[in-house]
Amino acid sequence: MRTQVGIVGAGPAGLLLSHLLHLQGIESIIVDNRGRAEIEATIRAGVLEQGTVDLLTEAGVGERLAREAFFHRGIYLRFGGGTHHIDMQALTGGKRVTIYPQHEVLRDLIRARLDAGGTILFEANDVVLEDVDADPAIVFRHGGKTQHLACDFIAGCDGSHGTCRSAIPQALVARYERAYPFAWFGILVEAPPSSDELVYASHPRGFALLSTRSPTLQRMYLQCDPHDRVEDWADDRIWDELRARTASDGWVLEEGRITQKIVVGMRSFVAEPMQHRRLFLAGDAAHVVPPTGAKGLNLAVADVRVLSRALERFYARGDRAALEDYSRSCLRRVWKGQRFSWWMTTLLHRGAGDSAFDERRRLAELEYVVSSRHASAALAENYVGLPFE
Ligand code: PHB
Repeated sequence: MRTQVGIVGAGPAGLLLSHLLHLQGIESIIVDNRGRAEIEATIRAGVLEQGTVDLLTEAGVGERLAREAFFHRGIYLRFGGGTHHIDMQALTGGKRVTIYPQHEVLRDLIRARLDAGGTILFEANDVVLEDVDADPAIVFRHGGKTQHLACDFIAGCDGSHGTCRSAIPQALVARYERAYPFAWFGILVEAPPSSDELVYASHPRGFALLSTRSPTLQRMYLQCDPHDRVEDWADDRIWDELRARTASDGWVLEEGRITQKIVVGMRSFVAEPMQHRRLFLAGDAAHVVPPTGAKGLNLAVADVRVLSRALERFYARGDRAALEDYSRSCLRRVWKGQRFSWWMTTLLHRGAGDSAFDERRRLAELEYVVSSRHASAALAENYVGLPFE
């Protein structure tokens, strides 16, 4: 088998890259070790930046999104017993917060690729990259046979635990990492939304977030200990904590049947550079953010936007300059996303080792964010997405 761009990973980065390349007449093949049903059923975060929505729309995969997504003006910050609305649409000259879960984006992209005759090889196992220096190939097991996919370039879109990153010689990679002394306990609840927009609550007992998936299914998170297991959280304990942390006068938390419980780890990570010879990393394969700023999918989309344009320039004109600048160009945005995700996380969570001074300082920062137009605007412009370069 041969293709122009071999893509490892049918997540948001790999699928969108394949679709954008197809629109420019560039061929690609995607391999993923998961099955289609598994990919489409993985419930992940759901906040899209305005630029992500615009890109999906321009690429012709925004139709269901336009019909089914929730468009919010902003978010609520709740702390010290008060609720404060951050009107992001007003603060950013019209950019909105779009709630459209990642698995819905994946369904739309998979459908678009298959309708256009694109190749996605699901359940491709034991993926190994060969000769990324000169004559790259992806070797894998598929349908009981070993397959050899020769390509001009390889896009490593296989997530933080994928194999592509390790194809770059370790001596050439700098790793930047930060761990957090807390995690999120996430639940899916069969209930109507308790709020018209997302609620980020910071409370002495810890952070809580009320998000949504549909008019009948809600996503809620609680700051927890990173070592907590799902079994540690009986339903009553979850509701007691959620009610306490989100309490506000005259407001009622809508409860319901809990259909999923998960512990979400919190980590900041960047591998530099994101490129080595003919291998390009995109999305979580190169960088991971804690979920607080909802930046993960959006950074992956920004990476493949840069990569697809660079590949277009190469195939149209033989011009390698944009390909060579790929890593530097992506990392400028990645580090701003890292900075913002770290900031949202430390702003809203209580750290285990925080002193009374840290607590007061954090409260003062929350007060400042909601009372200063400049500070609210700084939060807003990052949350709805900084402009693409
Ligand atoms: C989610 O809906 O899963 C979600 C929303 C906002 C976040 C993180 C996760 O900041």
